[in-house]
Amino acid sequence: MTDQSPSHEMLTSPHSVGNKIARLIWGVVYVLLFRYSPRSFHVWRNFLLRLFGAKIHGTSRIYPKAKIWFPGNLVMGPHACLGEGADCYNVATVTIGEWATVSQYAYLCGATHDHEDVAFPLIPKPITIGKRAWIAADVFVGPGVTVGDGTVVGARSSVFKDLPAWQICMGTPARPVKSRGLGPADFNMPDAGKEG
Ligand SMILES: CC(C)(COP(=O)(O)OP(=O)(O)OC[C@H]1O[C@@H](n2cnc3c(N)ncnc32)[C@H](O)[C@@H]1OP(=O)(O)O)[C@@H](O)C(=O)NCCC(=O)NCCS
Repeated sequence: MTDQSPSHEMLTSPHSVGNKIARLIWGVVYVLLFRYSPRSFHVWRNFLLRLFGAKIHGTSRIYPKAKIWFPGNLVMGPHACLGEGADCYNVATVTIGEWATVSQYAYLCGATHDHEDVAFPLIPKPITIGKRAWIAADVFVGPGVTVGDGTVVGARSSVFKDLPAWQICMGTPARPVKSRGLGPADFNMPDAGKEG
């Protein structure tokens, strides 16, 4: 018996066969070789992620209990960090800039659904975390969001819109509450990203 209701398309996966196979193999590799690797084995985990298409600098740190939906959509700069329990649902590209930190249990949510369409299609949108930004513990970062360079997002905040550079932001929805005392000059960065 087939489901012919207007919403039967909801049962159809938007992902290609190749994507599904890659994620299936990645899931096995993740459980067997990644998740229980010693914490200090960053080079090893970077190697595994690169095998599946991630673009990760050699100095990036991805902790073993971090979850990555699809390594091929992960880009991390020098010294960028993805902490324990952070969940990277990167249906679209997630970029974590150099020296940026994504702390424990943060959720980078790279897709939403069109809730006005009976087929409820998945809509992937990229996420960009700027250089030197800090996404604190348990923060939700929504699809399509860019967090500016140097910006701090306080613990348990939820980010639904872009945040400017070099701000301290918090709350749900997250908003800038003050400028960060530090700026690009403190890190020998070009001035371009300084705001506020
Ligand atoms: C965002 C953060 C860095 C702010 O630090 P800060 O600039 O020193 O700010 P303060 O602690 O002085 O707090 C300022 C105000 O914001 C509030 N506040 C602080 N963090 C908040 C948060 N995450 N969400 C909502 N409000 C917050 C404080 O209660 C205080 O309110 P008040 O003005 O009414 O008293 C810090 O609170 C935070 O969230 N740290 C993250 C900790 C973490 O995730 N650790 C894990 C990795 S080690």
